Amino acid sequence: MCGIVGYVGGQSALDVVIAGLQRLEYRGYDSAGVAVLADGGLAATKREGKLANLHKRLAEHPLPAGHTGIGHTRWATHGAPNDVNAHPHLDNAGRVAVVHNGIIENFTELRAELTDRGHELLSETDTEVVAHLLAESFSSCGELAEAMRQVCRRLDGAFTLVAVHADEPETVVGARRNSPLVVGLGDGEAFLASDVAAFIAYTREAIELGQDQVVELRRDGVTVTDFEGNTAEARPFHVDWDASAAEKGGYDYFMLKEIAEQPRAVADTLLGRIDTAGELTLDEVRIPDSVLREVDKVVIVACGTAFHAGMIAKYAIEHWTRIPCETELASEFRYRDPILDSRTLVIAVSQSGETMDTLMALRHAREQGARVLAICNTNGSTIPRESDAVLYTHAGPEVAVASTKAFLTQLVACYLVALYLGQVRGSKWGDEVIAVIRELSQIATQVEEVLATMEPVRELARGLADQDTVLFLGRHVGYPVALEGALKLKELAYMHAEGFAAGELKHGPIALVEDGMPVVVVVPPPRGRSVLHDKIVSNIQEIRARGARTIVIAERGDDTVTPYADHLVEIPPTPTLLQPLVATVPLQVFACELATARGNEVDQPRNLAKSVTVE
Ligand code: F6R
Repeated sequence: MCGIVGYVGGQSALDVVIAGLQRLEYRGYDSAGVAVLADGGLAATKREGKLANLHKRLAEHPLPAGHTGIGHTRWATHGAPNDVNAHPHLDNAGRVAVVHNGIIENFTELRAELTDRGHELLSETDTEVVAHLLAESFSSCGELAEAMRQVCRRLDGAFTLVAVHADEPETVVGARRNSPLVVGLGDGEAFLASDVAAFIAYTREAIELGQDQVVELRRDGVTVTDFEGNTAEARPFHVDWDASAAEKGGYDYFMLKEIAEQPRAVADTLLGRIDTAGELTLDEVRIPDSVLREVDKVVIVACGTAFHAGMIAKYAIEHWTRIPCETELASEFRYRDPILDSRTLVIAVSQSGETMDTLMALRHAREQGARVLAICNTNGSTIPRESDAVLYTHAGPEVAVASTKAFLTQLVACYLVALYLGQVRGSKWGDEVIAVIRELSQIATQVEEVLATMEPVRELARGLADQDTVLFLGRHVGYPVALEGALKLKELAYMHAEGFAAGELKHGPIALVEDGMPVVVVVPPPRGRSVLHDKIVSNIQEIRARGARTIVIAERGDDTVTPYADHLVEIPPTPTLLQPLVATVPLQVFACELATARGNEVDQPRNLAKSVTVE
């Protein structure tokens, strides 16, 4: 959570920092602030609420022009989202400014210590102690990078910090532990940010800082050390997407653009995964096949939407490999003392690659000797870096807080891993893999077909804007789809929405159904597992008999459901296991339209942030 930007170079620091914050606002939007070094001093402004409030403030009270600056957009952890708690935080002399992402766990002790030494702390945040500690260290060592190292050695928790000091007007210093921090290398200028999106308009050459590293940025280059001051290695990389990928491209919201990008994203994630001999090759999987052959249990850990992708993956993995597979909420995983050993394969699914719950789960798994494979969308992020292997999804940057294209590509990646495991272990033969890949290759076109027929879904959503509750039902892989539909509606439309396994309804939740209540039902394909299909048709009748208004998502031509559907949403025929790839799309559109109809902010729903870097 929280977006951080730093700049030193020839341009107006304020312009560069504000433009960067605009691209990072998805990470948090409780408050925003900037500090620039100018005229031998430091000037800072911060405002509660979205970046627009900061813009307004800066228009009324401009800051002096300078070439070194930092900025922050906040998702509040310690302290209410108000002006005082907004970042940057300054020391009492107003010479140091610091911005922070993460949580400093020992801030209470540090605060007490500072207060005893006469410091006056103004906010409720954990961050402010860093500004004061930096000022103290700087006055004894006279160098900001060294002061940062000294301070970092005293901090517990997960933190990324970026600071400037009025006495070093051409330096920005950053420190990283856990939360992401990348350096952008320009010509006579350098950038620091939580995400490359912040500086992609200026440079595509970047360096990813490692754990417990401090970086000093100057116009002529950067120096990276560990917290002790030893020279450290940081990984350089080239960003292979450009600024336009992070723009709305004519859509009203990033979410609409990202929904529309799904056919391309799905196709890109599949690209190059099968070699000329028809063998599946996942070249980022660095776990030897001999190890994969010995795997006797797969555990998938993830959160939110990625967890739903993991729930679907369980069906594919068990069906295609016959290896037992569990899917667990990453936030619960390590606290229940799971049984893991060197024959366990843990799959960590994460769009951002920074979700702290998932990161902690994978660390725990590795400590127990398990191998970890990451499925991730963000190149160079922490989760893939700490895993034994990684399969990148190629969704491109996902900016809207609600995950859409990341979900579909996570599913594709999960299917690929399942097939790969099947191939390596001999439970799937090459021709079977090719057959599934062929079916997967058709999905992009099928998602396009779904997208082209969404107007009735949007109209239906607009008509439901005054409803209080929507239920979602599914069976088999349709169950996680139902959960995902409910999650999208909660986070975007702020409505009470719940997903249920359709068979479970009669064990309690059916009591919720009342006259006129919308219930969305995801119907599996009528072919193949027809028992599953028949059972859900009965479930639809049961809820309809109790007054539900049924919104039925079913395969085109499935006439058996038509009599029981108050609203029918047709999707193209797919194999049962792959149906989530097409069935989820109408639910995304439904939630997005309902949010708009209710006047909600689609890309930045209340209380949320894109990347959850706290546990
Ligand atoms: C929901 C959503 C979240 C994320 C979850 C995990 O739309 O976006 O539930 O899926 O916070 O995030 P990642 O995938 O970045 O680990």
